[in-house]
Amino acid sequence: MKPDPAPERPLSREAIRELLGPIPPERVELLFAEARQVKRQTCGRKIFLRGIVELSNCCEKDCFYCGIRRSNPDVARYRMEEEEVIAAARASFRRGYRSILLQSGEEKTPQAVDRVERLTGRIKTETDGRMRIVLSLGEQEPETYRRWRAAGADLYLLRIETSSPRLYRSLHPRNHLHQRRLECLHTLRELGYQVGSGMLIGLPGQTPGDLADDALFLKEIDVDMIGMGPYIPHPRTPLARQAGKVSPAERLLRGLKMIAVCRILMPEVNIAATTALGTLDPAGRELGLAAGANVVMPNLTPPDYRREYNLYQGKPLEEDGILGLESLHRRIAAGGDELVLDEWGDSLHFRRRIRYSNGKLKRP
Ligand code: 5AD
Repeated sequence: MKPDPAPERPLSREAIRELLGPIPPERVELLFAEARQVKRQTCGRKIFLRGIVELSNCCEKDCFYCGIRRSNPDVARYRMEEEEVIAAARASFRRGYRSILLQSGEEKTPQAVDRVERLTGRIKTETDGRMRIVLSLGEQEPETYRRWRAAGADLYLLRIETSSPRLYRSLHPRNHLHQRRLECLHTLRELGYQVGSGMLIGLPGQTPGDLADDALFLKEIDVDMIGMGPYIPHPRTPLARQAGKVSPAERLLRGLKMIAVCRILMPEVNIAATTALGTLDPAGRELGLAAGANVVMPNLTPPDYRREYNLYQGKPLEEDGILGLESLHRRIAAGGDELVLDEWGDSLHFRRRIRYSNGKLKRP
């Protein structure tokens, strides 16, 4: 039998707000040490792998911070061929990946929806049902989410970007609705997906209080996984003009502190050390693991496409989820953790909530 849930240390909103504001380096170290300890108790030394395939950079949305927003004319738009996606899935499966994340800009056309349904079904079949399929394809109709789930998708990642409706409005055109995003998260959960969310950290106008609310929001909606990262200005976007002069080191620090706070608040969820951390510092991802993250998401997109999937400036292009696996393995081992292959990497939180729901103790 699994042990009881790790005791959750209460962290008040005020305490979180303070931790996310300016604190001396010694306190930052204590925060990271505590998060690491919580991670050891719940996740052990295991670091899970999820390969990312960036299916397409076409996007119907126009978010003020994002490099692939619809009105950026400098992006060479692409859609990967289906066979290219399947080839990436096969290659990663052979190397021990058991979880693959299909990501793209938001596309809602029937063709785009059909394509994802086909891809999901094919990857599931070709891997004998042994690959977890994670989708991160934005806001969609409930019927679309239902079809993709029926085709075999297991998890869905939809960042709320910020839990503050006010801040959300300042970052998006008027027809991008915070409420709609919340509804999508709710629908995904109802459909039986493992649900992931997260936010941008260090946005112009975002306060430590906003970030504290973000962390508490993720706990409140009971996410299974968290994918969040520092905001990095992209020069061809409207928000870059307001981004101010925040150093990469400061942006990184905020991201790491947020990981640590979330780990302490939610001991059993999966937390990804995201690409944006690695953009701010060559060791950013490892620092993320040392601050409490337990998932890494190497990039499996073919290099020619990857260049055009520029959400923010300086996104690393050279890393290869297949060829770079050995060195990733070593870097993770150097931090005292162990990269695990051949495992789905579902969060303890999810496994527990399923167990409870099967035993009819708690509805997921
Ligand atoms: N900096 C960091 N992350 C960004 N994203 C979009 N633009 C940026 C940026 N400038 C993130 C958003 C989105 C995810 C796909 O990429 O959080 O949900």
